[in-house]
Amino acid sequence: MLEAGVDLVTVGVFSWAHLEVGPGDYRFAWLDDVLGRLTSAGIGIDLATATASPPPWLSTLHPEMLPMTREGTRLWPGGRQAFCPSSPIYRTYAAHLCRQLAERYGDLDGLQLWHVGNELGCHNALCFCDVSATAFREWLRARYGAVDALNDAWGTAFWSQRYTDFEQVLPPRSAAASGNPTQELDFRRFSSDELLANYVAERDILHEVSPGVPVTTNFMVTEHIREMDYWAWAREVDVVSNDHYLVAADPDSYRELAFCADLTRGLAGGGPWLLMETSPSAVNWQPRNIARRPGELLRSAIQHVSRGADGVLFFQWRAARAGAEKFHAGIVPHAGTDTRVWREAVELRQVLDAVAEVAGSVVHNHVAIVFDWHAWWACELDSHPSVDVTYLDRAHALHRSLTDAGVGVDLAHPEDDLSRYDLVLVPTLYSVTDTAVDRLLAAAEGGATVLVTYFSGIVDEHDHIRLGGYPGAFRDLLGLRVEEFLPLRLGETVELSNGWTADVWAEDLRLAGAEALATYVDGPAPGVPAITRHTVGDGSAWYAACRLDRAGCDGLVAMLLAEADVAPIAVVPPGVEVTRRTADDGQSWLFVVNHTDEDVVVEAHGLDLVEDRQAEGHVSVDAGRIAVIREM
Ligand code: GLA
Repeated sequence: MLEAGVDLVTVGVFSWAHLEVGPGDYRFAWLDDVLGRLTSAGIGIDLATATASPPPWLSTLHPEMLPMTREGTRLWPGGRQAFCPSSPIYRTYAAHLCRQLAERYGDLDGLQLWHVGNELGCHNALCFCDVSATAFREWLRARYGAVDALNDAWGTAFWSQRYTDFEQVLPPRSAAASGNPTQELDFRRFSSDELLANYVAERDILHEVSPGVPVTTNFMVTEHIREMDYWAWAREVDVVSNDHYLVAADPDSYRELAFCADLTRGLAGGGPWLLMETSPSAVNWQPRNIARRPGELLRSAIQHVSRGADGVLFFQWRAARAGAEKFHAGIVPHAGTDTRVWREAVELRQVLDAVAEVAGSVVHNHVAIVFDWHAWWACELDSHPSVDVTYLDRAHALHRSLTDAGVGVDLAHPEDDLSRYDLVLVPTLYSVTDTAVDRLLAAAEGGATVLVTYFSGIVDEHDHIRLGGYPGAFRDLLGLRVEEFLPLRLGETVELSNGWTADVWAEDLRLAGAEALATYVDGPAPGVPAITRHTVGDGSAWYAACRLDRAGCDGLVAMLLAEADVAPIAVVPPGVEVTRRTADDGQSWLFVVNHTDEDVVVEAHGLDLVEDRQAEGHVSVDAGRIAVIREM
């Protein structure tokens, strides 16, 4: 580890079965030894509370703590994280273990961070057992007070679903027809809250017994996982930390990484955060686990740093000989240290040392994309107009167009004060609260340019349609009214009057104050506006009523940037990322990550910390390489 320059190690994540070999029978000698060795080597410790996966003796004693699927199948132990998040048995035993560890190691030299559980909600986010049912009812009682308030919110007049007592309410288990959408939505809110409660219970013990040591739990901000409302979670952690793994099937997976890193920074309030896990090369849990290409480790790590991470950790140190993850890469591969992966990890450490001065700096952007887990859940409920409308699609598309334009972007909650941005993008925000509507209106009136994309503002937080024509929440903002959705067939495209192409979606849209910037040439609504603009106060509100292809999305973003007067950080070809971090004293650093096979030249003034060379007007970045410029 010293040879690789490792200075922080996560320890003990899945070690409950080794630490507590029977109820209250704790064995710490082996952990004393490991922590002692790390401490004497001067390596920092991120100590897990080890509650991520209960040991077999516990589920044997209490099989009622095992989770249950939507269909009613009890999941067996044998994998990991086999517990119901609402289980009082789990919570009691986890709290005991957490307290034991805090008391034993809470003031250990070298303890830098507490790591609660692990990826809470990985595998067991939604549990449908009777214990969960009881907890769900409690949560609903607290939310609604009276059962008739629940009936109103859930629209139970429909399909004879009216409840006369909370005791009749169940989790949304597998049913004969489409379930109640608001029940499903509330169950997702409840499930996120239950997992968060597990975190908070352990955090409070750690704060009490081990004061002064920050506490985190590793988030999973990734396109694979959507069950946790991390805006709510971010308020409870001392340090935002995230795990990110590349989507192997996507040859341009660095784009999803960039989006997730920006979203993680949003969760951290714009400030620094920690990359808690990524893989040194291939993972083992995707269908085809693609090894990282030469140089990719450095590029990925610097992408995270460029978007606000102040540290980069890996899963895992040594590739395992046995167990389900034995084909998952480690910094020390099965082949040992005479390997490319090892050498690239050592090189990464050298680069991180060279750019260490960026730690503590933040990212300020003029553009925001609005993002909300509740809207994600609601948008993808079943029985909707088209299965082709998915939540992340437009968010990713807009992020990609901005990145290719060399423009940095923040991810913001819809109820944030958005008026500090010049350009605010609202992709597929299907459900929206009145507060969020006010925030967007205020931003536009104050001079911002706002873009809303289709299937936004359709329902309130109970998933009730906002009546009077779509998008009910944004009709006034956008100056238009949609009479009917006109989703397209699979593969069908429509042409727009300005030469752009779209698919998936169109609408029968009437102007009510807005102007049409483009209309449909063909498809289900020829002549009807597809792209509109509405002057609002000192700003404007634009609407995209269809799913633009890449060129159209790039074209629209270029127009929006021009109207909002947002300049790029630098002009770059697609596949080259530029980002900027800034310190309190005004010192800034320009990051360039070249994902392409061509060398590029980027405008820059200052010192390239990676190559230790002056950039006087420009920096040349080789194919697949990076630069970090301390700007003059
Ligand atoms: C997650 C877990 C790790 C490991 C990796 C594999 O991030 O936290 O324990 O399973 O996935 O990629």
